[in-house]
Amino acid sequence: MITKLYFCCFILSFMFMCSSSQYVPPVSEDKLKLFKGDVSWYTVNLDLPPSKRWTDIITDKKNEMVSMIQAIRDLADAFVPSGKLIDLVDKDLSLMVDTLPYPFNEEIRGIASVSGVPLGEVVLFNIFYEVFTVCTSLVAEDVNGNLIHARNLDFGLFMGWDLKNRSWIITEKLKPLVVNIDFRRNNQTVFKSTNFAGYVGMLTGIHPHSFTLTMNERFSLDGGYIGILEWILGKRDGMWMSFLTRSVLENATSYESAKALLSDTKLLAPAYFILGGNQPGQACIITRSRTHSINPLQLDVKNGRWYVLETNYDHWKEPLFLDDRRTPAMKCMNQTTQADISIKTVYDVLSTKPVLNKLTTYTTLMEVSKGTLESYIRDCPNPCMPW
Ligand SMILES: *[C@@H]1O[C@H](CO)[C@@H](O)[C@H](O)[C@H]1NC(C)=O
Ligand SMILES: *[C@@H]1O[C@H](CO)[C@@H](O)[C@H](O)[C@H]1NC(C)=O
Ligand SMILES: *[C@@H]1O[C@H](CO)[C@@H](O)[C@H](O)[C@H]1NC(C)=O
Ligand SMILES: *[C@@H]1O[C@H](CO)[C@@H](O)[C@H](O)[C@H]1NC(C)=O
Repeated sequence: MITKLYFCCFILSFMFMCSSSQYVPPVSEDKLKLFKGDVSWYTVNLDLPPSKRWTDIITDKKNEMVSMIQAIRDLADAFVPSGKLIDLVDKDLSLMVDTLPYPFNEEIRGIASVSGVPLGEVVLFNIFYEVFTVCTSLVAEDVNGNLIHARNLDFGLFMGWDLKNRSWIITEKLKPLVVNIDFRRNNQTVFKSTNFAGYVGMLTGIHPHSFTLTMNERFSLDGGYIGILEWILGKRDGMWMSFLTRSVLENATSYESAKALLSDTKLLAPAYFILGGNQPGQACIITRSRTHSINPLQLDVKNGRWYVLETNYDHWKEPLFLDDRRTPAMKCMNQTTQADISIKTVYDVLSTKPVLNKLTTYTTLMEVSKGTLESYIRDCPNPCMPW
């Protein structure tokens, strides 16, 4: 019990650092020569037992994964010197794998065994994404009723700023882990996603010709991270958010059924789900508390709302002034206009600072009618906002 409390303190103190961060003046919007790195494709065969599904990816990405875990260890040691904290993670979190639902528990075991990374640390790696992700997601409808769903994934906030490099240590370590995955059953694509090797939940994905889905963090005090802390301490009702996203991508078959599952399933913590369908007008932002959906925002093209866009603030409230990626992103969308919206112009919107910032790990662009998903590893040249 004491050791679990230690671990909670570790997570809580990271969160606390969020609220005491320094102000950095905004960088003027510009579109410099922006790095566009390709992401490789892998297949995950859902017909295999869960423990075998990730073998190809992890075999390829083992070194990158070990390097990333080492960076997390270094951060933990800076917090509690002497390696004690990681010892606790190895002991305690490895036991918790049994409390995770199938198939996630088995998949995580398989990843630990192929990578050689201790099981508790693979669990930690899977939990961290639930806590330190900030993002921009949008779904736009073009004049032909075609839907484009795109996102920037910004990860690694307050996870060690490298002064020399002006970059986030964990963010840089994650970039080589970005992969595109084609999940297949009976040798047919079920869904595709952009993901980090070693992570079994989903943050970004497409069920081709049916729906597209992204998840953004919701930093909310009502419910906040209490559910995660409770889970660590042993009270386990509610679902991990990115596990729900994965289940929906894998097993839902329509926009409507995806929407119902995302709106009504009890969660461990608040979240935003950005969902696009396959018909004109089908896109929404689902703002979740742990128990229910609040004030959903739908596309409404007739009344001028031809896109929905979400960062990490409730759409009916002002964003935090230190972290306003929403206004610049919307300004850009408005300037682009519905007549000119396309995969290319959406990429440009997501390449505008500070929508693109030092935390931006990847950009993904999806088009449901074509069933396509493409993603790019990002780099934000100086001058660039840390977030
Ligand atoms: C600094 O950044 C470069 C390129 O982004 C990277 O190759 C290098 O490893 C980084 N150095 C450190 C100390 O992280
Ligand atoms: C799976 O489908 C691909 C083409 O989509 C084909 O090349 C491959 O042979 C198939 N594999 C099996 C085991 O049927
Ligand atoms: C999807 O449904 C199948 C069949 O019910 C189940 O075996 C599988 O575990 C589900 N996938 C997820 C990620 O929940
Ligand atoms: C963009 O356009 C919408 C709809 O006309 C408007 O409500 C919103 O205030 C505009 N936002 C910005 C930042 O220009």
